[in-house]
Amino acid sequence: MSHLLSQVEQLVKTKFMDQEGSHDWHHIDRVRKNALLLQRTSGGDPLIIELAALLHDYSDHKYNGGDFEKGSQEVYELLIQLHAPEPLAHKIAQIVSIVSYKGAGVNDDCTILEGSIVRDADRLDAIGAIGIARAFAFGGSRNRALYDPSHPPTLHESKEAYAQDKSHTINHFYEKLLLLKDRMETPAAKQIAAQRHAYMEAFLVQFMQEWNP
Ligand code: ADP
Ligand code: NI
Repeated sequence: MSHLLSQVEQLVKTKFMDQEGSHDWHHIDRVRKNALLLQRTSGGDPLIIELAALLHDYSDHKYNGGDFEKGSQEVYELLIQLHAPEPLAHKIAQIVSIVSYKGAGVNDDCTILEGSIVRDADRLDAIGAIGIARAFAFGGSRNRALYDPSHPPTLHESKEAYAQDKSHTINHFYEKLLLLKDRMETPAAKQIAAQRHAYMEAFLVQFMQEWNP
């Protein structure tokens, strides 16, 4: 492992160890593993992919008071401080800025291969069994209801509207999680996503059956 990589791994591990379950070190580590798995079939520079995966949530808007730009700035400064070459720091910062989901109606085309891979990997961890567990862990951490039939989902047209919405966790499935399958960019992620998507749909059917007996 490169010296830079092991330094970043250690820093991120320390920073995320005690975060709540939806965004803890294990999430970061799963994204890294998913990303390296996707790299095997889609290509891309493994060092860039691994560093970007480790740093993708370094200063997330959901945890930093709503600043969408801060994450990539902090990542850039950190890498420069660790003596990473400037073009590498620049590229990783660019990738970090495109990873986050910004709402159903917000276009998120990506032109950097390594960015598509890290984002697909992050999105794979948002769906399926782990995705369900993470959504309710996050909702619980913000005191949100599991479900409220009187509050239907909103397909947000801006990242600000998406970030400000504080609705119940079942809405998050319709506002983000069920939309991710069709937003995957790499072929391997599309394939894994299909199975995880079907699992979430079955979960929602069962949830509604139990809610409305
Ligand atoms: P992104 O950068 O796309 O926001 P993250 O990896 O930071 O992705 O994590 C997003 C995850 O946090 C979601 O997949 C979900 O598990 C959880 N989450 C975020 N917003 C909500 C919400 N409103 N309700 C429930 N879970 C949420
Ligand atoms: Ni993430």
